[in-house]
Amino acid sequence: MNGVVIIGAGLSGLSAAIALAQNNVQSYLVSLQPSERAQSVLAEGGINAALDTMGENDSVQNHFDDTMRGGAYLADPNAVDALTKAAPDTIRWLISLGAAFNVKNSEPVLRNFGGQKKKRTAFAKSSTGKIIMTALIDEARKYEAKGLIKRLPHHQLIRIITENGGCIGARIKDTYTDKLFDLLGQVIICSGGLNGIFPEMTTGTTQNSGNCAAVLFSQGVRFSNLEMIQYHPTTIGISGKRCLITEAARGEGGRLWIMTKEDKPWYFMEEKYPELGNLMPRDVVSREMFFVRRRGDTIGEVYLNMTEIPEQVWKSRLSDLRDEIIKYTGDDPRYTPIAVHEGIHYFMGGIDVDDRHRTSIKGLYAAGECCSQYHGANRLGGNSMLGAVFGGKRAAETVLMSELSEVTMEPFDGDDELAAEPSEQLIRRQRGILLSALGIVRNEEDINKALSALDKLTEIKDLNAVDHARIMLGRGMLMSALERRESRGAHYREDYPEADETMRKKSISYVEDNKLFTQFCDIPERRAANEDQA
Ligand code: FUM
Repeated sequence: MNGVVIIGAGLSGLSAAIALAQNNVQSYLVSLQPSERAQSVLAEGGINAALDTMGENDSVQNHFDDTMRGGAYLADPNAVDALTKAAPDTIRWLISLGAAFNVKNSEPVLRNFGGQKKKRTAFAKSSTGKIIMTALIDEARKYEAKGLIKRLPHHQLIRIITENGGCIGARIKDTYTDKLFDLLGQVIICSGGLNGIFPEMTTGTTQNSGNCAAVLFSQGVRFSNLEMIQYHPTTIGISGKRCLITEAARGEGGRLWIMTKEDKPWYFMEEKYPELGNLMPRDVVSREMFFVRRRGDTIGEVYLNMTEIPEQVWKSRLSDLRDEIIKYTGDDPRYTPIAVHEGIHYFMGGIDVDDRHRTSIKGLYAAGECCSQYHGANRLGGNSMLGAVFGGKRAAETVLMSELSEVTMEPFDGDDELAAEPSEQLIRRQRGILLSALGIVRNEEDINKALSALDKLTEIKDLNAVDHARIMLGRGMLMSALERRESRGAHYREDYPEADETMRKKSISYVEDNKLFTQFCDIPERRAANEDQA
C-alpha cells in the first residue's frame, strides 16, 4: 500500500492523515505526544469561515481581504484565496464528523473576532480546539482500524533523510526505548509552533520544543518570516507559563482599560480605534497595551473588563473560560476586571512553503503552524485552526499528485548526532536573549546585542548538534528581525516605525555549509481565479 510519513498529530497532521486515508494511502503519524495532548486541543475561541449565518452579508472576498490586510500583505494571496474559499466547506465537513459547534436552527452561530468587520468565527463555547480534535481523532480511528493510519505516539523526528537533494524519509526515535529507525517515504511536517523556545512566555505547549524546526533548519530547509512572532494581548501568568484569555471574551463584549492618574478607567482601544475598538488585530492591540502602560498619565496594568457580558452569553458561550479564570486567578470575571498582559501565542514564520505546501526540498511538505504562508506578518484570530485543518488536507492532496510508494521501516543501529537532547541551560539562556530583542518593540541595538550574546552561547561547554541547531535557528530569527528595517504586522521597529513598501517581501532564512543566509523574496502575484499551480 502506498504511504506517507507525517510528523505531528495535531489538527494539520490528523487532517492530512484523514485526507490520505480517504484516497487509500497509508500514513505513519509520528508524534511526541498522542493527538489528545497536542497543542491544537488548547485552541479556544473559534474557526473562521464566511458562512454568513448571521445575515451580515459576509463573503469569501471579505474573508480574503481581512486576512490579507490583517497580515499586512505579506501572506501568499494564492494560498489565502484557496484557504478562504475552502473555509465554509471545511466547517461543514467538521460538523458532519460530529464537531459540536454552537448552533442555532442547525446552523453555526458566528461571533466577532479581531480584525474582522463581520461575524465570521464558528465556535464551541471557548473549547473549539478540543471539540474539533475530538471529532478528527474519532475519524482517524476509523481509518486506523483499516490499517490506513498507523499512529506512532511517543516518537520523535531526528532528521529528514535526503538523497540527491530530495527528501526520501525521516529518521525517528522511539522516546520510550531510545531506539532509532528510518521511515522511508515522502514526509509532511506538521510539528506546530516554536513555543518551547520561549517557555514561560508562551500560551502554547512547550512540548512543541522547537527541536524539529531547528533540526530541519540545520539540514538546509528554507524558513520564512521568522521575525513574525504574535503576541496575544490577553494572557495571564500561571505556573511558569501564560494562560490565554480567548479573544472571544472581547468578541462577546469584553473591554480593555487602564487606570489614569486621575483615577478614571481609560478605554484606550475604543477611543483610538472607533470602528473595531477592542477587536483590532492582535499586533495593534498588543502594541497599544505596551505603550499605554508606559505613558506618564496611566497607572499599573491593563485590565480586561468582562463585567458587562450578559449572563446568558457567559452560560452558553463562555462558561469554560469563566471556570478557567476563576481557577487561575481566584476572581470571577463576571464581577471583577482581570489584569492582562501580552504573551507569545503564535509564530507566523516557519518552514517556507508554496501555496500547495511544498517546501524547498523535493518530497518534503509542511502544514499547520510549523509553516509560514497564510498569515503574513500577523495572523487573525480564528484563522489558525482553519489554516491547520485546510493546510493538512491541501498538503495531502499535493502529495497525492506525486509518485507514491510504500513506506518502509528500517532499523538504524548507528549513532546520530541529531538524536541528542537539547541542554536545559541553553534553552533558558537563549530564551532570555531572544526575548530581549524580539519583544513587541524592537530596535537595531538590542538585536545586535542579542546576536553577540547568542554567539557567546556557542562557548558553553559540551553543546551537542541539536544545541547548535537551536542557536542557528535563533540567529535566523534575529537576523530576519535585523534586516527587516521597517515596521509591519507583528514586527515593530522603533528605529523604523513605518512600513516600507519596497520591503513588502518575505524574509527567507537558510543554512548552507553551516553558514546562515538571510534574504528577501517577492510575494507571489495573485493568479486568475481559474489557474491552479499544479
Ligand atoms: O483568542 C483566541 O481564542 C485565539 C484564537 C486563535 O489564535 O485563533
